[in-house]
Amino acid sequence: MAPPPSDGKKKNIEDAEWYHGFRPRRDAVRLITKPGEFLVRATDTGPSTDIVISAMDDNRKMVNITLKIDTEGKWFIGQSSSANALKTPHKFPTIVDLVEHYRAKGLSRTLKLTQMIIRPTWMIKHENVIYEQKDKLGSGNFCTVYKGKYTPKDGKTMDVAVKISLVAQAAVDLEADEAKESRMAMMREAQIMSYYTHENIIQFYGVACDHQPLLVLMEFCAGGDLLTHLLKHGKNTDEKEKMVYLYEASRGMNFLHKKQCVHRDLAARNCLISNQGQIKIADFGLSKVIDSSDSKKEDDGSGKNKNASNAQVPVRWMAPETLRKDAQGGPAYSRASDIWAFGVMTYEVFSNGIKPWPEDPVKYVATQIRKGNMPKLPDSTPSKIVGLVSQMWAMDPNKRPPMRHIAKEFITMLKDSTSSSSGSTYDPKEMTLNKINGVSRTAFFDHTSTIEFDSNSTVETDSFDKVEKSGGPKPRRTQGSKGGKRGSSLRESKNSVDK
Ligand SMILES: Nc1ncnc2c1ncn2[C@@H]1O[C@H](COP(=O)(O)OP(=O)(O)OP(=O)(O)O)[C@@H](O)[C@H]1O
Ligand SMILES: [Mg+2]
Repeated sequence: MAPPPSDGKKKNIEDAEWYHGFRPRRDAVRLITKPGEFLVRATDTGPSTDIVISAMDDNRKMVNITLKIDTEGKWFIGQSSSANALKTPHKFPTIVDLVEHYRAKGLSRTLKLTQMIIRPTWMIKHENVIYEQKDKLGSGNFCTVYKGKYTPKDGKTMDVAVKISLVAQAAVDLEADEAKESRMAMMREAQIMSYYTHENIIQFYGVACDHQPLLVLMEFCAGGDLLTHLLKHGKNTDEKEKMVYLYEASRGMNFLHKKQCVHRDLAARNCLISNQGQIKIADFGLSKVIDSSDSKKEDDGSGKNKNASNAQVPVRWMAPETLRKDAQGGPAYSRASDIWAFGVMTYEVFSNGIKPWPEDPVKYVATQIRKGNMPKLPDSTPSKIVGLVSQMWAMDPNKRPPMRHIAKEFITMLKDSTSSSSGSTYDPKEMTLNKINGVSRTAFFDHTSTIEFDSNSTVETDSFDKVEKSGGPKPRRTQGSKGGKRGSSLRESKNSVDK
């Protein structure tokens, strides 16, 4: 059993470009395609961490060699290894020394380590991330978020939000398989998310996976979450400004949907406000995987949606088809169920942060949703928006409008209400967003082109062109599909929670 890999202070394994941290074996198999190619990775074997060299030999056979450590803390390759027949193994003070030695000499006649697979930039080293307990930004059901600093290779330190699973932190012991599965889900997501860039979604920087706790690094938003802002300043925020929030959120969601990414937890608490006062969608993809994968939480006693994972779901934002008790293979999350949640978020925005059925238990809420008895929007909601929300809350998921339609509706309403002919001009200084510390918004609303909302738009391509080596991201679930394995560790398989 090996100590954590970061122990070797002299030559730190985390500095080595060939070290991929907790990267699953499956990835190694995909990345290593030629004899001589290799990488080094960590893997959990119950209570401790093993370090493994993955390489391809001259016969094109994949070899995984687990490094051993003796009582004096010296590293070596054991005789039983399938890769070699070293009678008296060399011993090395650090893993780096060991790997460098075998890179030069080869492991055996047929097994060379000539070509390293370099760790991708989204795999961040813990030592390049700093955060302190006192800089906690908040915590949800499963995670704590801190403000921190990240120094990438180019040396330019930047502010980041660091998300850590509470459960991983508390070292709650998971079944090894479960821990591995959640880590693999995280890696898959990280790879996909590293290609997502849009003004209205949170930029993902990477994941620190050298050792526990795994950290997810993302863009820091000085304005915090939209829900907090609505609760504090919603009453003084006029309808036009609220429409800007919803327009920007719909634009971010449209981008995600074009990428086949289903959010599954869209709500005002998961929209953030950037330093420039833009609304950004957060907690899609990876931050959600970490959110939920390691989680074991009590349910709320409602007894609804119970299943093996004994975890939780935010019922108030859920579409009726995702609440079906008999759903095989998990609830039917889809782009259409995100549209439903967008309707609930629109309700939150116009009710100044009050969630629907604020006083009722989730069991009652779930029944209302299943029956399609949705609450009336506050009287102050513009009638066009009331009409739009009623479409978003269509019981038949296929009847709900696509995100691009919603975005187009919002931009049209905004253009109409701020056009010179309407006699209404808007000074961005009046926006309540500017009341938030650290936020400065200088333009009220500045998107005039709607081309990205056309159904055949190529402005944001739906394909991933920059995939890492062979076999890039796998297709994600799309409209109407059921939760797959990735999702099984996510919220779709959870019990109700009263958010
Ligand atoms: N990138 C970020 N920049 C600034 N603050 C953030 C960032 N990400 C999260 N936060 C803050 O941390 C809080 C906790 O986030 P977290 O996602 O763990 O929980 P949540 O959003 O309340 O619930 P959920 O579990 O549904 O995501 C947020 O409400 C937000 O205020
Ligand atoms: Mg969140």
